Amino acid sequence: MGAPTVQTPGEESSGRSRAFRTFLAFLYLASLTVIVGLLVRGWDYYTTPYSLRPQHSDYEFLRPAGLWGQGFGVIGTTLMVLLFLYSWRKRSRNLGKVGKTSQWLSLHIFCGVVGPLLIVLHSSFKVTGLVAVSFWAMVAVALSGVFGRYLYQRIPRTVVGQAMAPDEIRVQELAIDRQLRERHAASDEFLDGLQIVARGRRGFESAVLGVMAAAAQEMTVKRRLTRYLWTRPEWREAENSQRPDLEELCREKTRVHGRLHRLEQYQTAFHYWHVIHKPFAAIMVLVMGIHIGVAIAFGYRWIF
Ligand code: HEM
Repeated sequence: MGAPTVQTPGEESSGRSRAFRTFLAFLYLASLTVIVGLLVRGWDYYTTPYSLRPQHSDYEFLRPAGLWGQGFGVIGTTLMVLLFLYSWRKRSRNLGKVGKTSQWLSLHIFCGVVGPLLIVLHSSFKVTGLVAVSFWAMVAVALSGVFGRYLYQRIPRTVVGQAMAPDEIRVQELAIDRQLRERHAASDEFLDGLQIVARGRRGFESAVLGVMAAAAQEMTVKRRLTRYLWTRPEWREAENSQRPDLEELCREKTRVHGRLHRLEQYQTAFHYWHVIHKPFAAIMVLVMGIHIGVAIAFGYRWIF
């Protein structure tokens, strides 16, 4: 029998993160496969003009009040309600200790992607009346979520998902500097050059334009880094076996320094993003509540 393996807390949590990622990938794969399957199955009905739909053989199933159509609405709404657990978790002291913030956010995003897709199927692509306000607010919130996630990822975070203070990011950068000095004899001048590579050209002061300029700088940082390295003896004279490690550290340094340099800009943009994202979510919930209330008052019950 082999020696028992001892699992350190770090290994245990990285194993758990891997299990979570696999679980999430499975959820996306299963849900999106079902949704695409339903779309293909109902394509003929969904592309039939509204006035002719009552004569269609799928009408009883796929109309918003039909067995399947209403089911899409119920499951979609359940997911839309569940996604607000993320807000609750952010503010709850007890729930705050359960899991990582990043995992809760991933589940929020899953519900925010699959929920609206089911609501689109529930609507059977016929969006009219008051509920259209909720529908388009939902579309706006879900699409703006993609931009929010982009900004969220650009604000460095601790392992539990809290935004890092500039000093904490600087500590990370200094640790990379130390490794570059110890393993590759990097000089101050070399490290200063990497900082210039990370910053790129001066961007815009405004939050949104600044973020767009920063995105452009991020896209070209790899090219700037390669060009910079070839001007440096530290790279040209390095042995081939050392270069991957040197390159990896330089990349990490430019990534961390770039994030630190643009932190204020990303945080301002993220703040404005929240200011827009939340009211749209509130409008969506309000009108969705009225829509569901009216449906129940008119006697719609689905399978219950
Ligand atoms: C209709 C669907 C969605 C609704 C109703 C919704 C609603 C919300 C609400 C109310 C918040 C604020 C949480 C808080 O600070 O308490 C939030 C945050 C957030 N949402 Fe969504 N969301 C939706 C879809 C999405 C999608 C599809 C994504 C990503 C692709 C996304 C990404 C985010 C991110 C990154 C945050 C910020 C997290 C933070 O500041 O801690 N959301 N969402």
